[in-house]
Amino acid sequence: MKSLHHRIYIILLLTLSFTFVSQAQESKKEQKAVLVTGATSGIGLKITEQLSAKGYFVYAGARKQKDMDRLNAMENVKSVKLDVTKWDDINAAVETVKNEGRGLYGVVNNAGVAIFSPLIEVEEEDLDFIFDVNIYGPYRITKAFAPLIIQSKGRITTISSISGILSGQFFGPYSMSKHAMEAYTDALATEMRKFGVHVSAVEPGNYNSKIVESLIKRMESNDITYEKSLYREEFERLISGYGADRSRFKDPIEVADAVEKSLFSENPKRRYMVVPNENEGNWTITQILREMVQLNENQAYKYSREELIGILDKVLAETE
Ligand SMILES: NC(=O)c1ccc[n+]([C@@H]2O[C@H](COP(=O)([O-])OP(=O)(O)OC[C@H]3O[C@@H](n4cnc5c(N)ncnc54)[C@H](OP(=O)(O)O)[C@@H]3O)[C@@H](O)[C@H]2O)c1
Repeated sequence: MKSLHHRIYIILLLTLSFTFVSQAQESKKEQKAVLVTGATSGIGLKITEQLSAKGYFVYAGARKQKDMDRLNAMENVKSVKLDVTKWDDINAAVETVKNEGRGLYGVVNNAGVAIFSPLIEVEEEDLDFIFDVNIYGPYRITKAFAPLIIQSKGRITTISSISGILSGQFFGPYSMSKHAMEAYTDALATEMRKFGVHVSAVEPGNYNSKIVESLIKRMESNDITYEKSLYREEFERLISGYGADRSRFKDPIEVADAVEKSLFSENPKRRYMVVPNENEGNWTITQILREMVQLNENQAYKYSREELIGILDKVLAETE
């Protein structure tokens, strides 16, 4: 009799723990998970804070243990060691995400760096550095996590920039990388459509972050100077004008809002330009229109002003 009671007790216990485990797994699956690269500061940290506070689960990419510890202390956040230039880190991060059993609904390709340099002087290794992070990084991350995103019919968001449209003195390398991001986003969006995966670009203007502080630190530690530059004066003006401290710029809350929309709204847009003032939006839209005028100007099948407005109306009626 005693052993029958004992058996019933064991069966009850097993059933209960099975129920708890499967409930935990179910609730894990219900909580949509997103990977954010470069989550330690600036825009990536803001995205991580906002999404986790709203109850999404964030895999937050970081390179240093102290940053990982800081991120792990946040609710709904698990840090993953992730240098986007290192396949070992990326492959291990894929395994971590798979083992967690939540699947993966979104990837935010945010990690990015900047350099300022005149194009006739920039060293090849500096170009390699910026492309390795800003373009090969998203390429590697997206390729590695694509099976999980396809499985969830999820979303991919790239953090481009208004520098994906604008370009100018000493911004060449950075703008080249962000222009590449624009092309990358458009091609990827068409390729992922057949899997029900939506791809968007978020295009911030100037917001507070550590991007220039890191740029100046790298220049100092790699002994990069503009002392012998043909553009010395302009360069000094740029560096002193820009400065490492970007606290005069707005907190990137509205950038995080746009990322949230790109990930979770029913009909996400291909592009979300987010600017802190009218000027930055105006420069960007004007530049796009200027390029349109330049392309149209001397082409064999040139459109009249009215025809151009007709094309604009058609584009305005498109949904994406
Ligand atoms: N702030 C703006 O005004 C602005 C405007 C337009 C676009 N953006 C874009 O926004 C994104 C975020 O930049 P941010 O302005 O927020 O700058 P940030 O504060 O300097 O943040 C950059 C993030 O990228 C990470 N990162 C750098 N190299 C990496 C690598 N090899 N692997 C993984 N992570 C790496 C950094 O990690 P560590 O802490 O380990 O260095 C940091 O978490 C970038 O793509 C940038 O181009 C920024």
